[in-house]
This record gives sequence, structure tokens and C-alpha cells, in this order.
Amino acid sequence: MNILFTASEAVPYSASGGLADVIGSLPEAISRKGHKCSVVIPLYSTIDKKIRSEMTFIKSITVDVSWRKQYCGIFKHTAGNVDYYFIDNEYYFNREGLYGFYDDCERFVFFDYAVLAMLKHIDFKPDIIHCHDWQTALIPVYHSIFCKHKPEFENIKTIFTVHNIEYQGRYGREVLGDVMGIPEHYVDILEYDGYINMMKGAFETADYITTVSPSYAWEISDPWYSHGLDRIITGRHEHLRGILNGIDYDLYNPETDNLLAENFSAGNISGKEICKKMLLAEQGLSEDNSPVIAIITRFVNHKGIDLIRCVFEEMVDMGIKFVILGSGIKIYEDVFREMSARYPDRVSVTLGFRPELARKIYAGADMFLMPSRSEPCGLAQMIAMRYGTIPIVRETGGLRDSVRDDGNKDGNGFTFMSYNANDMLDAVKRAVISYEDKKTWSELIGRAMKSDYSWNKSADLYINLYNELV
Ligand code: GLC
Repeated sequence: MNILFTASEAVPYSASGGLADVIGSLPEAISRKGHKCSVVIPLYSTIDKKIRSEMTFIKSITVDVSWRKQYCGIFKHTAGNVDYYFIDNEYYFNREGLYGFYDDCERFVFFDYAVLAMLKHIDFKPDIIHCHDWQTALIPVYHSIFCKHKPEFENIKTIFTVHNIEYQGRYGREVLGDVMGIPEHYVDILEYDGYINMMKGAFETADYITTVSPSYAWEISDPWYSHGLDRIITGRHEHLRGILNGIDYDLYNPETDNLLAENFSAGNISGKEICKKMLLAEQGLSEDNSPVIAIITRFVNHKGIDLIRCVFEEMVDMGIKFVILGSGIKIYEDVFREMSARYPDRVSVTLGFRPELARKIYAGADMFLMPSRSEPCGLAQMIAMRYGTIPIVRETGGLRDSVRDDGNKDGNGFTFMSYNANDMLDAVKRAVISYEDKKTWSELIGRAMKSDYSWNKSADLYINLYNELV
């Protein structure tokens, strides 16, 4: 089978979150199982210059964006078994960041048209186009309105994967004709609540919808999680499935990771102590036996930072140290900045997106706190477990599907259910009690490190789905 993945970001080319990790690793995992995978993403000007120089130019074409005629360059780069195609247009993609511009709607409408237009010009005929998140949501829409009936498209099936239903691509009604080039009589496909909603359009038209964990697939039928789209999701429940993400086991491997002060494995975790010492020293924190909790996250509302803020002092008073890495909404940055100013030898904060530092933190910390209000999948808790760092999570989405509470000494972390700071604190206290008994703790580390969150199982589940559709 031939599968074309399409998304707005992919490691190592461009990344702002977990989506990029998935697009950088799932296609490789599927292609290792005998299927041909290609990926198409925008050619952002921020892509590493060295990688850029290794790309080959395929062709330039003109793409219609409603009444506009836009240049579209097609480039290619091969990584492992996967060909990555790039859509070039400097007017749209030569910017300081990936998103957050006044014309994001037009930028990704262009991209979506370009992906379909490109198919005639590349040496790859997909059976499935697998689209991810709102930026690619118009591909199933255009496919169903304009392409499906043409011979070169008729056997292609589309899948739309939701990585986070909060970001839907919602715009004023005027974009329908002027930007999207969609005739008025198709308005029902995209209109919702008085807006043009790109994700809604994909829900209506994709052959199948998936989410990045089984729990999130049923959660989004509930108004508490759905950001308004539960009715639409419920209408497609027969074509909805949740498949848990995996992580890249080659990249995240404490046995071989050359950034670590000392490598370690499930069979021999002694190196983890050295990583902890090094981390404390590098972060300017005092060295003693107290537990270190890591927080690595985007500082946005759904990550549960409110809960952390409510009981932060109590946790520091319990003797816990914190190593925090992330960036996002300013009020949250300020909360953590203030904490590290007040407890300079117990709390360290680094603001920014720093994948290499993140790996040192995953390796050196004892626990990983992730109390998300909602979490479609979450990769950080899996990476933490891979590095023997015990997750403390709220039971939601992929956190619920990957972390089992250790109440009966057979789990791989600590969990709590209600979105409530005291319940979170209780889980933290249980983790600290367990930490104080070295034998119990090292057994728990062993169980966490042996939990399998590689892509192996999930890649099979995607392949089963592709087979059902084709
Ligand atoms: C989004 C979700 C996150 C998920 C990631 C990759 O960032 O918020 O939970 O792990 O996508 O699917």
C-alpha cells in the first residue's frame, strides 16, 4: 500500500509540538512493515540550512487559491525509508514562525490545494492520504467535492487524524468563496455555529477519522472535551477510532543517548543517579536525596498548570525539587519564574523549546508531572517512562491509556481522576512515599522502563485500518 501523510510540521524539519514527532516517526515505522510512505509538509524558511541544501527540486506548478494563482515549488528529501516532499512558496512560508499569522487560513488553504495538485507531478500514487490536524483539514473536503470523480483520484481514501480538537481552523463566513474557492452550495460541509470550521469539514468528508488515543476518541463526544464539535463527532462515530501514538525508540533510548552523563537501561539503572547529579549541578540546584519532579510542557491552558500553581508551595515544602522547561502563555511563565526566584536552590526554570535539554531532564529527574485537563495523547509521559522517570498524570486521553497507577505495586506511575489540585497532591504524596523505599522505587522504575510505547503495535493498528479502507 502507498500512504501519503500530510501535516504542517515534522521532525527534524520543523516542530512546535507532538504533531511533529508523530509525523517524523510514524511513517518510518509503517514503512518498515513493508508499505511505502511519503510525507508532504510546507517548506518553511526556518528549516535547517544543511537539510535544505540536500533537497532536490522536482518541479514548479501554479496552484489556484480561489481567484489567486500562486507559485508552488515541489522539493524532495529522503530520510530513512521515507520520502518527504515540501511545498514551497515564500510569500506563505518565509516567516519567523510556523503559525499565528493573520492569513493562516489562506496559507493552509494554499497548502491543501497544493498537496492535491502535486500528485500528478510526483512519482508516488497514494492509496490513502492521511491528513493531520486542522491545517490539512481541507484536503478531504476538496477531495470529496472536486477530485473524487476524476479517474486519477477515484481510488484514493482519506483519513483525518485529530491531534487536538481545540484547534479547529475557525474563520469568518467570507473565507468560503474568497479564500477557499468553495461554491456557496457546499456551505453546509464547512459551516458550524456561524463560522467556517475547517476541522468540521474534515469530519464531514474524510473516509475515516482517528484520534491519537482510544480514550480521546470517546472523550471528544463529550461537550467537556469537544470544544463544540461533539454533535458532529457523534454523527460519525462508526468511522471514528482511537490509536495510541508511539515514540521514536531510536531517538529516545537511555542506553545509547549520547547527551546523557551516563547511559543506563532497565537492567541496570545505576547511570540514572549520575544523570540526576549532573542535572542538579547544571540547573544550579542543591544536591541531596530529595525527589526531583520534572515538568516539560507548553504553558497552555489544557496542560493543568493551574493545579500545579495551587499547591506548588506545599510540594516544595515537602522537600521536592522542580526542574521546569517550557514556554507559552505569559502568566504561566511568570508563575514559574517567580517560584524559581523564591526557591533558587529547589526550583529551576528554563523558558523555551529545547529538545536536547529535555532529554537530559527526562533522564535525570525522578518523577514527571503532567496533570493535563485534557490530553489527546501526550508523548512526554512515554518518553519519561522510557528514561525511568515515573509519571504522575491525570486520567485523561492518552495519559489514561498509557499510565497505570501503582496502588497495587503493578503499575508504571501514579494517576488521579478529578481535575482538582488536592487529588493531584495526593498522587504526588503517594509517589514520594514510594520513592522513599528504594526497593519499591527501583522495581517501579523497571516496570516503567519496560512498558512498550514504541510504534510497533500502533503501526499495525494503522495498517489494519488502511487495509479496511482500501
Ligand atoms: C497534540 C496533543 C498531544 C499529542 C500530540 C501528538 O500536541 O495535544 O496530546 O501527544 O498532538 O499526537
